[in-house]
Amino acid sequence: MLKGLDELTATIYAPVQSQLSQVEERLRDLPRSNPDHLESLLTYALNSGGKRIRPAITLLASDFYPHDPEKPLVMASAVELLHLATLIHDDTVDNSDLRRGRATISHKWDKHVAVLFGDFLFATSATFVCDTNNVRVIRRFSETIMDLASGELMEYLNAFNIEQAWDLYHDRIHRKTASLFCTAAETGAILGGAPEPQIQALRNYGSNIGMAFQMVDDLLDVQGDSAELGKPVGNDLLQGVLTLPTIMLLERYPKDNPIEALFRDRGEDGKLRQTLDMIKNSGIVAECFEVIREYCDKATRSLDDLPDCDARRSLLALPGYIRERSR
Ligand code: IPE
Ligand code: IPE
Ligand code: MG
Ligand code: MG
Repeated sequence: MLKGLDELTATIYAPVQSQLSQVEERLRDLPRSNPDHLESLLTYALNSGGKRIRPAITLLASDFYPHDPEKPLVMASAVELLHLATLIHDDTVDNSDLRRGRATISHKWDKHVAVLFGDFLFATSATFVCDTNNVRVIRRFSETIMDLASGELMEYLNAFNIEQAWDLYHDRIHRKTASLFCTAAETGAILGGAPEPQIQALRNYGSNIGMAFQMVDDLLDVQGDSAELGKPVGNDLLQGVLTLPTIMLLERYPKDNPIEALFRDRGEDGKLRQTLDMIKNSGIVAECFEVIREYCDKATRSLDDLPDCDARRSLLALPGYIRERSR
């Protein structure tokens, strides 16, 4: 059981639990409405669990004003499908064999299947967005796919490059992760009939919570538990990817750290251990929490002028859950 998952599903998702179940049903229906040769892949990918944070954000962001419930529902389904497609491609690029506690598509089938099936899911998610009939939402969704792809490319093109400044890191994680949180919240607000200033507020919320989410994920990669997370740990460094704690380590010990040798030797095991131990024994984890807290605070402050309701209370509680994941 993932840390805090009970709180997430029982309390934070409560105002939109029935809509989330409908999202689940729509995703589970996909194997039936597609050609037979895709059935085993679709069934495998769509029954793999996951926290469903992004569709929950879309539904909560839509829940402030009276609206047609169908549109946020198709949008939330699209957001989760898009996320799933990015995970399949990400695991292929990251050479990762475990996702959500099971073999990745690239491992269980192969990399070619993962690329093509990921494309299939990207396109399927776009057909869901078309059902919103909202050109602004369709455009935001397309721009988000551009951000996700350019963020992942930025990461790959800079792999094993030790000279990465903070602005590059922030830009990269905004593109690869925060952009989808931002769009999840923004499109929920648009389709839920929110006035423009509140759409901007929810957009801001999504963007900041997305940054915090990736930073927590970065931290979990250096100190989490693979069995609990259902994905490998330590893999960022092995793939040459610098993250919040490792950039801090480089900054703190510019002359005396094992990362340079680790990158030079492309993933030597002893150096990885040494790096992870060094992070644990320094004050770096506490410093990471501080940065994460700032993003969470910015997210909650974005909601200051939104009307009080169950959805707002859930959105205010979500940063607490995200922060606790890595404690
Ligand atoms: C993993 O996202 C990818 C990142 C952006 C860090 P999640 O942690 O939301 O993955 P699932 O959907 O719960 O499996
Ligand atoms: C998130 O980055 C990548 C995506 C946007 C899919 P990571 O590479 O850190 O995600 P995990 O750790 O594999 O889930
Ligand atoms: Mg990855
Ligand atoms: Mg990660």
